[in-house]
Amino acid sequence: MEPLSSLSGRQRAAVSALAAAAEAADGVAPLNEEARLQLGREDALHWLATEGDTVVGYAQWQPTNATAQLFVHPGHRRAGHGTSLHTALVADVAEPALWAFGDLHAAQRFAASRDLVPARGLHIMERAIGDAPGRPVPDGVTLRPFTDADTDAFLAVNAAAFADHPEQGHFSADDLANRRAEDWWDPAGLILAEDAEGVVGFHWTKRHPGNTGEVYVLGVHPRGAGRGLGGILLDAGLAHLAGTGATRVILYVDAVNAPAVALYERSGFAVFHTDTLYRPATRD
Ligand SMILES: CC(C)(COP(=O)(O)OP(=O)(O)OC[C@H]1O[C@@H](n2cnc3c(N)ncnc32)[C@H](O)[C@@H]1OP(=O)(O)O)[C@@H](O)C(=O)NCCC(=O)NCCS
Repeated sequence: MEPLSSLSGRQRAAVSALAAAAEAADGVAPLNEEARLQLGREDALHWLATEGDTVVGYAQWQPTNATAQLFVHPGHRRAGHGTSLHTALVADVAEPALWAFGDLHAAQRFAASRDLVPARGLHIMERAIGDAPGRPVPDGVTLRPFTDADTDAFLAVNAAAFADHPEQGHFSADDLANRRAEDWWDPAGLILAEDAEGVVGFHWTKRHPGNTGEVYVLGVHPRGAGRGLGGILLDAGLAHLAGTGATRVILYVDAVNAPAVALYERSGFAVFHTDTLYRPATRD
């Protein structure tokens, strides 16, 4: 099985249909947002597992995150396709780390069969949106929606806030442009906190179809730390989402990011599932 550096329109449609079938069976999408965007771009490598002319499995490697995602059609599992995709991945990418969204039983068993061990947990937390009043904004700080003129300031605050984060720390002008081309993009949902020195934090919300909203990215520049801006921005974003009709809100947070998990728990969020990143077991 050879890696492809891009997918044809037909291959892309086949992978999207496959992903929809896996999501219907598993209750969790097998590809995350970045992987879905990469189906139409040329920054990732792709492997297709086939039976005759039918695509039955798919793997993607993202060099920027150094992680892979891999899944097999629910009707074609336990036939070795997962193993073939992983073998092909390992042949081209030394020691790939692999996401298991929802960390399903099959993924746990499959990972064990490939000598992979859990290395990182990403919590998905949720809460209902009530109409609790927002926390008061300190003097000298204003909240306002994003405008085009804020692009550089936004990217700089994001880079500083997520300097140690494996994915969000690399968020680029291109990544922003890609999100802005998506149907859900809404500048009013990207709320900036500004003080005398400029933009100091932001809460980027995302509206999903139905009644769900997301705390997409919440970041405060280290110079703004200790002023309660995280909670204030969180409330402002929740109020915005409530205004668009969302009644439930979700967010993703690294399980080891104790201050962020604590902020969200204090704000009424609870973990409802955890994605797991598997890595090859180290042999001593
Ligand atoms: C995990 C997944 C990719 C496995 O694909 P697959 O084609 O069924 O995998 P294989 O047939 O190559 O299975 C290899 C081994 O994994 C283990 N395994 C896989 N699924 C299993 C299950 N449901 N229960 C127990 N063991 C399982 C077995 O040891 C199996 O070998 P065996 O069939 O000879 O017993 C597939 O279930 C899937 O797409 N799940 C949803 C997406 C996902 O979770 N991906 C993350 C992978 S870490």
